[in-house]
Amino acid sequence: MNINTQLLFPTPFWTVDLDINNSELTRECYRVRRTVKGVFDKSNRGGYHSDNLSFNIGFDSLLHTICNTSKKILTDYYSNTREVSINPYWVNINRIDNYNVRHIHPGCILSGVYYVKCQNVPEQGSLVLHMDEKEQFILNSNHLNIKTKEIITPKEGMLVLFPSYVPHTVLPNTLNCDRISISFNLVFN
Ligand SMILES: [Fe+2]
Repeated sequence: MNINTQLLFPTPFWTVDLDINNSELTRECYRVRRTVKGVFDKSNRGGYHSDNLSFNIGFDSLLHTICNTSKKILTDYYSNTREVSINPYWVNINRIDNYNVRHIHPGCILSGVYYVKCQNVPEQGSLVLHMDEKEQFILNSNHLNIKTKEIITPKEGMLVLFPSYVPHTVLPNTLNCDRISISFNLVFN
């Protein structure tokens, strides 16, 4: 008997290693922390989460690359032809014991993070993409051995993109050094 397994509604995510000057970006992120107020009603518990940033403060090359990468993904995977833009984006600087609680980004198409400065180890605070809660509950309560989350180790220079409806958390940074990242949402124009 040949059983044919097919995937019904697979959830994609994407990683891309970018060739960008991260030392320069690191300086820019610390400058943002000195000059832009942090916000405290978001998913982060501790650490610096900047307010939404404007588009003229020195992240041009990165934002341009994120936009082009996202457009390619949307065209190749979703056959989308509509124009998209980044709105908003913000800087995160997370210290030891800082983490993010489970959340989604409603109203957006894709969301993502770019790692500006970090140790490439899970202890620096991995990104966890979760299965939908109801589906996860049913699978877990029946002890079915299906993967219900994807754990992504931070990596300096890596861009991660995922559909904005995917619930995600960030595990605590257990190292005594900063993890700096830039997060963003993509929306249709
Ligand atoms: Fe998020």
